[in-house]
Amino acid sequence: MAKVGGLADVVGALPKYQTNAGHQVRVIVPCYDTKFKKENDFECVHWGNVQLGNFNFPFKVLKETTNKLGYELYLIEIEELFGKPNVYGYEDDIERFLSFQIATLDWITVRGEAPTIINCHDHHTGLIPFMIKYGYKYESLRNIRTVITIHNGLYQGCIGFDKLHYLPEFDLIHVGFLEWNHSLNSLAVGVKCAHAATTVSPGYLNEINISANGLEDLFKSVRSKSKGILNGIDFEVWDSHNDPMIDKKYSDKTFKAGKQKNKERLCEQFQLDPAKPLFSFIGRLFEEKGGDLLPQASALALSENFENINILILGSGNTEIEKQLIQLRNEHKGNYNVFIGYNEELAHLIYAGSDFILMPSRVEPCGLNQMYALRYGTVPIVRRTGGLRDTVIDFGDNGNGICHDQASVEDMCYSINRAVKLYDDKINFSKIIKKGMATDHSWERVCQEYIEIYNLIIEKNEI
Ligand code: GLC
Repeated sequence: MAKVGGLADVVGALPKYQTNAGHQVRVIVPCYDTKFKKENDFECVHWGNVQLGNFNFPFKVLKETTNKLGYELYLIEIEELFGKPNVYGYEDDIERFLSFQIATLDWITVRGEAPTIINCHDHHTGLIPFMIKYGYKYESLRNIRTVITIHNGLYQGCIGFDKLHYLPEFDLIHVGFLEWNHSLNSLAVGVKCAHAATTVSPGYLNEINISANGLEDLFKSVRSKSKGILNGIDFEVWDSHNDPMIDKKYSDKTFKAGKQKNKERLCEQFQLDPAKPLFSFIGRLFEEKGGDLLPQASALALSENFENINILILGSGNTEIEKQLIQLRNEHKGNYNVFIGYNEELAHLIYAGSDFILMPSRVEPCGLNQMYALRYGTVPIVRRTGGLRDTVIDFGDNGNGICHDQASVEDMCYSINRAVKLYDDKINFSKIIKKGMATDHSWERVCQEYIEIYNLIIEKNEI
């Protein structure tokens, strides 16, 4: 329906596997003006008005009718606020996501059948656990158990207290739950009020006790109701044996020839040399992801290796980083290229045709790219942080990838140089690739961990 980053991959896949495991799952998202919305059929199952202080926004609840995603999808259509193509980044984001949360609960209140669990994702849904517990008009929902899943604790959805009157009425005795560092912090509210909090990897759960953009003490204090659950990946979508988006399908037996074929296709498209190792980066070009290191690290790695490697970058984000990456094209023709933007099909081909994937992230709550890469026999080169630390072990320690500790150009280049040597050591390189391809990060297993949390908070029965 809509995608900015990994959260969409997770919310798009986890419900499918929960449904397959026998649960009744519904996904509710704002109705953004996307291609999916235009190309699919919906039925209006409810309509109403969201009251936001003195504002009033009409809304509709649209149900996707074909069930093509493997679960029921509902869109909350608030034309005035969400009839735009992007997911976020607008001046009225506070009004948009507050209205979404209120409309959702208003609908559930009249729907007749309330869910047992609501699993909220990130700060955009952080006020739902509070409103369910304390909102006067949501009294009939009090038995619903809530979980908040944190995909990224850096973004917290802070709202000035001048907008407190936007919230549906509640007993002011509970106003303290809303406050963190003098503002109404949506993520903090969710973490305080939900019955359980999950992060998208165990490593990230440990890290946010030390560094979480001001929420460290809060995360420490809720440790007993928190759990780090490593994301899965959708093996039906990310499968080198059966991927319609790549040039040549392959297995762990045929990966050499298969990957080479895909690499040739990529190299032809981007004027690179298929005889040399190919290092790729896929992702958002921001400091958080180490995007700012890419221009300098690429230039240095290319010169240190006498242009005997290829580097290919797919992403968009910070315009300064984009500019530097485009500039580099002129200096390293034939060995380096960049595609500014995002293209799902190209991403699949890059995983299939690259030898190494670069993930120099400063912060990485889970990271899915390294798992996709492993699945496609592409060796991940990662900075040890969050979920990257949990999923990639250095080959020097008998692992499946290459790791370094600092988010720096020097550390990145050191790893790239080690990778070049590994690439030439064909026997060991193949062993590491095979190990990666055999890693099981399937949702089937992971989805059970979510079910366990749900069961736990149902049994506890705490309000
Ligand atoms: C966010 C995080 C990323 C994680 C994804 C899915 O995008 O930055 O690390 O993999 O959410 O949980």
